[in-house]
Amino acid sequence: EVKLNPVLLPLSWLLGTWESDEPGEGNYPSIKPFRYTEKLHFSHVGQPVINFMFNAFHAESNKPLHRECGFIRIQPGTTRVAFIIAQNSGLVEIEEGELTGNQLKLQTQSLGRISFAKEPHVQQICRVLQLRPDGKLEQTVSMATDNQPLTQHLHITYSRSA
Ligand code: HEM
Repeated sequence: EVKLNPVLLPLSWLLGTWESDEPGEGNYPSIKPFRYTEKLHFSHVGQPVINFMFNAFHAESNKPLHRECGFIRIQPGTTRVAFIIAQNSGLVEIEEGELTGNQLKLQTQSLGRISFAKEPHVQQICRVLQLRPDGKLEQTVSMATDNQPLTQHLHITYSRSA
């Protein structure tokens, strides 16, 4: 067992493995609504950094769909948090925001993508991750693309699984 870097104490509620308890809901004005399951894993190796992996699957076929992974940092002594994210769609992203209690509110600070990324291109992402009083983790993601203003894409809740 590696000792948790004390810088991470305000974010320790994230650590561990989470699994959607019922399928999450995906929506967007330009697509057919869908349901998905997702596993989240947050870990650390003693550095003042959380490592994460999010793996999503189609709720009916179990087919792997969206995947993202990266690192989470907190500016020591503040509530300023940064996510450094790589997505399987060819998007890389820095999201920054504030930690308020057990709620993280993040938005895109910078964004890059592969030259042949699918269109429409994402222009902005807003994400809320919170630990609810009932012990479940909840994530809501909104995005803006070339064609749509900031609109909700995802909503899901997770229970601790290990
Ligand atoms: C569609 C972005 C996470 C499933 C899309 C579209 C974009 C997008 C730009 C196309 C919208 C359009 O055509 O107007 C993102 C971003 C994500 C994310 C930035 C994370 C921050 C997820 C997750 C799932 C998912 C976790 C879960 C399975 C889908 C599906 C579609 C879609 C099924 C419609 C079919 C398709 O275009 O492939 N997403 N997505 N997305 N997304 Fe996401």
